[in-house]
Amino acid sequence: MFKGLFQTRKNTMPDTALDLSGIDLNNIPQHIAIIMDGNGRWAKAQGKIRTYGHQAGAETLKKIVRAADKIGIKVISAYAFSTENWKRPVTEVNFIMELLSRYLTNEIDEFKENNVQVRFIGSQEGLPEIVRQKMAHAVAETKDNTGIILNLAINYGGQAEILQAVKRIARDTAAGSIAVDEITNEVFERYLYTDGLPAPDLLIRPGGDLRISNFLLWQIAYAEIWTTDVYWPDFSEEHLLQAIRAFQGRERRFGGLVNK
Ligand code: IPE
Ligand code: IPE
Ligand code: MG
Repeated sequence: MFKGLFQTRKNTMPDTALDLSGIDLNNIPQHIAIIMDGNGRWAKAQGKIRTYGHQAGAETLKKIVRAADKIGIKVISAYAFSTENWKRPVTEVNFIMELLSRYLTNEIDEFKENNVQVRFIGSQEGLPEIVRQKMAHAVAETKDNTGIILNLAINYGGQAEILQAVKRIARDTAAGSIAVDEITNEVFERYLYTDGLPAPDLLIRPGGDLRISNFLLWQIAYAEIWTTDVYWPDFSEEHLLQAIRAFQGRERRFGGLVNK
């Protein structure tokens, strides 16, 4: 579980020790979902253009994945680009696509070195060919890795995900490969992009907004939510640990009762 804790890493930022005080290492959330928000406002606050914030946000993701791996988190789902983000100016969208492409190229060695398995959720439709190629390459190169899973949401929308699942199930039902009464939660989940992943235990939203913005609508049914006003580029390992401490202080009931 604590694999990677004492691992030496090349080509990484300085490895400051994490302050694990107050953290129960036996109750680490398995899957953390992160809405990486606030890049634009972070840049604006410094008199810079919004894209500068996206660049900084990509660096934050690298740092947080490393820290998450060290503490034994199994899956990080990171919201990088939503189905609604196409509404932004084309220059910003193009910058984000180029950034994703560069990120996937530059990080591939680190993923391999640190046993990170990369997955993607979202629709490939509409993404630039180069981004699709880089995504396919990252998946192929890391598919046998057994460490932390970095699940990147690109052109992802929770409603679109549910809709594509419904359509495919309807087709399978019409074709007779599945009966209507066989459509259970478990079966439905196999049609979601997150097939094979556990549901997030904890959802983190930096940037101060208190909404879900179409992220993992089905999967977060019982996720604990933790938010902070800190913009994503300023989100540090310590914020991740704060979120985990808060998570560990919560009582998860899943609709039932907990006798204490
Ligand atoms: C999140 O930061 C990144 C993406 C949505 C691509 P924003 O770009 O939404 O930053 P703010 O929320 O405008 O500050
Ligand atoms: C959510 O942030 C999407 C990502 C972080 C990729 P947005 O900035 O798009 O969300 P809204 O528009 O504030 O709800
Ligand atoms: Mg935003």
